[in-house]
Amino acid sequence: METVVSGIRSTGNLHLGNYYGAIQNFVKMQYEYNCFFFIADWHSLTTHPTPGNLHGGVKQVLVEYLAAGLDPERTTLYIQSDVPEIAELYLYLNMNAYMGELERSTSFKDKVRANPDNVNAGLLTYPVLMAADILIHKATKVPVGKDQEQHLEMARTFGNRFNRLYNSDLFPEPYAFNFTQNLVKIPGLDGKGKMGKSEGEGNAVYLSDSPEVIRKKVMKAVTDSGPTVENQTKPDEIQNLFDLMKVVSTADTYAHFDELYNKCQIRYGDLKKQLAEDMIIATAPIREKIDHFANDASFLRQVARHGAIKARESAQKTIKEVREIIGFRAF
Ligand code: TYM
Repeated sequence: METVVSGIRSTGNLHLGNYYGAIQNFVKMQYEYNCFFFIADWHSLTTHPTPGNLHGGVKQVLVEYLAAGLDPERTTLYIQSDVPEIAELYLYLNMNAYMGELERSTSFKDKVRANPDNVNAGLLTYPVLMAADILIHKATKVPVGKDQEQHLEMARTFGNRFNRLYNSDLFPEPYAFNFTQNLVKIPGLDGKGKMGKSEGEGNAVYLSDSPEVIRKKVMKAVTDSGPTVENQTKPDEIQNLFDLMKVVSTADTYAHFDELYNKCQIRYGDLKKQLAEDMIIATAPIREKIDHFANDASFLRQVARHGAIKARESAQKTIKEVREIIGFRAF
């Protein structure tokens, strides 16, 4: 059975981008593969959270994983920092990761641009830690959104480089995965880029948002003055709303609004109302379970402990092989 690994940083509430880009696939994959899903708390340290925020963020992701339908009996659900073997593999992989290639990574360049005062080494070697997350379980499929594609390419580079250097075939090649073949990029509500936690207030719709909050955010989304007979090409901000509709609404609803747009009869207020109601329906089953899991501390503790044991078992096997290959041998 193929092995699957993926994770989400513990940097706040999860949004529709996380859900449609990643978690929805996790939930389906748990029935078909040997799955390891984790909370990337080490990765979240690049932005220096307070101890309270770090702890709260880890709990929030665990709760939302469970609320979205991940079953700790079917998958290995764990917290990255509970598996020290990952940090050890990260150290080894760092010896064969080069400055030039790390500096060229698009997400590194974006982060430097966004926050030039905090260009730390953890940020630079972020893709190496991510490769360690994946290679530690010898995964071949990694369910992620489109924004992680380059990181997967780097994970393959680091794994292959290790294999070549030591003349081994220890690490298989991991590939980004989505059931629809195409990796997903869910747009935000600000009319610009992707939905994200750090893209500005009101851009993201969270799985934990109440119906009132969702309605407010969607109604505030940027629109234009409408199509004209001469020009029915959708500008980015309108295309984004249609793209969101494609994932949360039925095909009939989408076709109805698309037709109105093409006939220049669209009323954006109606489109947004429908979009908000469909988002509310899509997130309801998750939202309703969030409080339940958040209030069950003993269950959360049990899930995290059980997951750590299973994840370490797998990680220890790999790290033992890695040490042997590198030449760390007992006298
Ligand atoms: P993170 O926490 O930024 O995002 C978690 C997952 O959500 C996806 N995602 C999106 N997908 C579509 N549209 C969007 N707007 C959108 N926003 C976020 C991301 O692609 C991701 O799948 N580096 C990873 C965490 C990580 C990881 C790993 C993932 C650490 N180690 C090993 C896979 C394997 C990240 O930053 O995710």
